[in-house]
Amino acid sequence: MFKKCTDLFLKTFDSRHGICCFAPGRVNLIGEHIDYNGGYVFPCAIPNGIYGCAAERSDNLLRFYSLDFKDKGIIEVPLDDIKKTGEWVDYPLGVVNTFLRFGYKIDRGFEMACISDLPGGAGLSSSAALEMLTGVIIKNLFNIDVPRELLAVMGQFAENRFVGVNCGIMDQFASSVGKENHAIMLNCDTLDYKLVPLESDNTDIVIINSKVKRTLAGSAFNDRRKECETALSIFKEKISAKTLCDIDIETFEKYKGLLPPVIAKRARHVIYENHRVRSAAKVLQNGDFAAFGKLMNESHYSLRDDYEVSCPQLDFLTETARNFEGVLGARLTGAGFGGCAVALVRKEKTEAFIEYLKAEYKKAYNLDAKIYVVNAAEGARILKAF
Ligand code: GLA
Repeated sequence: MFKKCTDLFLKTFDSRHGICCFAPGRVNLIGEHIDYNGGYVFPCAIPNGIYGCAAERSDNLLRFYSLDFKDKGIIEVPLDDIKKTGEWVDYPLGVVNTFLRFGYKIDRGFEMACISDLPGGAGLSSSAALEMLTGVIIKNLFNIDVPRELLAVMGQFAENRFVGVNCGIMDQFASSVGKENHAIMLNCDTLDYKLVPLESDNTDIVIINSKVKRTLAGSAFNDRRKECETALSIFKEKISAKTLCDIDIETFEKYKGLLPPVIAKRARHVIYENHRVRSAAKVLQNGDFAAFGKLMNESHYSLRDDYEVSCPQLDFLTETARNFEGVLGARLTGAGFGGCAVALVRKEKTEAFIEYLKAEYKKAYNLDAKIYVVNAAEGARILKAF
C-alpha cells in the first residue's frame, strides 16, 4: 500500500519528494453511544486505514486527490480561503482550518494523495482516519509538535465545527492513540485513558461488514444525542450529575419514572452500557474472554431494544454468530443503523465461522458480508519520507 500510495502521488502531482503517512480505522469492542455521554469506551485501532502521501508547496494552495473519489479529480483550495465544499475534502480542510484556529502556523500550501483499505460509511471510522491522517501529515510537513491526544481533540473539533457532524471523541482518539495489541479504556469525560493488553493466543477479533450503508445515521445519531440531553436535564432537576454517565444504575432505577418511556430506554442503555464497559475491562485483565463476550452480547441487545440503532441484518449476523460454537460474543460496532458487527471467536473456529456466516447471510439477505480478522494496531503515524 505504501508503494501504491507513493506511485499515486508521483503520478498525480509534480513534487518528487514528500512523506507517506497512515491513519487506521477503529473497532469499538464495547461502550457504544457512550462517548458523548461522558462515560467509558473500549476501542482499538485496526490494521486497515488510509494512506496519504504529501509534500509542501511553494505557493498557498491546498491540493487533494483520493483514489476513492477519483471522479472528483484534484480538488484545489487556497489556504487563506478555506470553505466547506460538500466533498470528501471537507475532512482534511476542517483539520487544516482547526490547526490555524488553534494558533499553529501553516505558512504554505501542500498537496496530498490518498488511498484506503478501509470501507467508507461502514462504521469503522474512515472519517476519523482521514482527519488523523491529515493531522499527522501537517505535523510532519510543518514541524508542529502536537501530542496524539490533542490531535484527536482537534479532529473531533474539525468534524463538529467544520464538517458539521456532532460525533464524540472515541473515533479520533482510537485512530490517533491506538497501540499494537492494546485496547484503549478511555474516560470520555476527562480523556484519561489506559492501554489494556488485548493479545490472545486463542481468540480472534472478527469484524463483519454487513454492507448495509448507514443512510439514516446522520439524523438519527443527532436524535439520539438530543434524547440523551433531555434525559440528563430531567435527572438534573432531582440529582447532581454533569453527564448521563455520572448516574449509577441504582440512581437510574430510583428516578427512571420521571422520564418519558422512550427517553428512559435511551438512558437505560447509556447507564448500563457504561457499567458493562467497566466490567469488560476487569474481566479482560483476568484474560477472561468468555465473560467479555457475554458483555458484548448484552451490549448488542441493549443497542437493539433500548437504544434502537440496530437493523435486521446486524441482528441476523450477530445472532447467527452467537449460535456458532466457538463464538464468545457478538455485537454491532460504531453508530449502528447498518455498518459493521464485531465478534470474538476462538481461533481454531475462525475459518469455519467465516465460511458459515457468509453463506447464511447470503441465503438470508443475498448480500456478501466482508469479513476482517484483525489485531489491535498502532495509531496514526508517518511511515517514510521519499
Ligand atoms: C460514531 C461516532 C462516535 C460514537 C459512535 C457510537 O462512530 O463518531 O463518536 O458516538 O458513533 O458509539
